[in-house]
Amino acid sequence: KVNIWLDCDVGNDDAMAVLLSLFHPKSNLLGISTCFGNTSLENCTNNTIRLLSTVGRTDVPVYKGAEFSLKSTRATTKMHGNQGLYSTDKLISSFEPITEGDLYDLIKKTAEDKQFVIVITGPQTNIAKLLRDHEDIISQIKEIVFMGGTSGFGNVTPNSEYNIYSDPEAAQFIIDTCKQHKLKLVMISLDLTYTCQLLEPLQQRIKNINTKFSDWCLEMLKEYQAAYKAQEFDYPPIHDPVAVFYALHPEMYILKPVYCAVDCESKLCYGRTVIDKKGVYGLEPTIQYARKVIVNEFWNHMIQAIQVAAKN
Ligand code: BDR
Ligand code: CA
Repeated sequence: KVNIWLDCDVGNDDAMAVLLSLFHPKSNLLGISTCFGNTSLENCTNNTIRLLSTVGRTDVPVYKGAEFSLKSTRATTKMHGNQGLYSTDKLISSFEPITEGDLYDLIKKTAEDKQFVIVITGPQTNIAKLLRDHEDIISQIKEIVFMGGTSGFGNVTPNSEYNIYSDPEAAQFIIDTCKQHKLKLVMISLDLTYTCQLLEPLQQRIKNINTKFSDWCLEMLKEYQAAYKAQEFDYPPIHDPVAVFYALHPEMYILKPVYCAVDCESKLCYGRTVIDKKGVYGLEPTIQYARKVIVNEFWNHMIQAIQVAAKN
C-alpha cells in the first residue's frame, strides 16, 4: 500500500481526491491537512469533515492548516460556490478537526517511521511551512505530487493556475527545497487535468451506482459542471484526483524532467509557472512534469472509489 498524506482545500474536485485516497485499494490515507483556497479555511475544513463523516471514515485525522498564504493573502475563485462544495446540506458532520499543535507532530504520529507520499491539491502553504520548519521530515517523504500550474493558459488569471497563484512563494519554496534535497516533485498541471473532463457517459456511470451517496456526488458534480459551463468548458475537468492517482499508479503516467520556476515578481504574470519543456534555457530540471495519463484508467479507478464509498 502507498501511505498518503493529503493536503487540500475541499473543493468539489478535492472531494473526489479525498474519495480516491480513501477508497482506492492501494491507498493508505494517513491523514488530511486543510488549507484556505477554494473557499475560507473554515469552509474547506468543514467540507472535509462532512465528507469523511458521511462516508463513515471518522478514523482519518483532519488538521486545520493555513488561513492565508505565506504573504498573508487569499485569492478567490467562483468555481466552487459559496461553501466551496455544492450540496453540503446533504452531508453529515460527526467529528472535529485538530486545531492544536503542529502539523509536523500529527504527521509523525500517524506515519511513525514509514515512508509516505505528500499529495497537495490546494495552495501549497501548509507543506512549504512543514518543510521550512522541520527539515528532518524530508528524508521520510517518498515524493511530493501536486496539482497546480500550467504551461499555457491560466484559469485564475490569463497566465496563472489557481493553486499556484494563491501562494506562488510557497510553490517556489517547495521547488527549491526538493531540488536541494533531491526529493522527487511531480507536477500535475492544468495541461493534463484538462484531458480528464467528466463527460456524459462518465456521469451516467456514476448515476448507475444508484445510492444516496453516489446521487450526492453526481448532484455536486453537476453544479460544478454548471460553474464551468458559465465560464470555460461544457464539462468540468476533475483536476485534483489526477494527482492522487499518480501516487497510486505512476506506471499510468508519462513524466518528463523539466526546469520549472514560479513567477513571484511580475504584475501581469504573477503566479505563472514557467515550464521549459523544450529545455531552451539549458537549466537543470526542477520538477517531473506529467505529460500524459491513461485517462480511461483514471476514470475506472475514480468511479470504482465512488462505488466503494457509496456502500459505506
Ligand atoms: C485547482 O484549483 C481549484 O479550484 C481546484 O480545486 C484545483 O485544485 C485547479 O486550478
Ligand atoms: Ca483544490
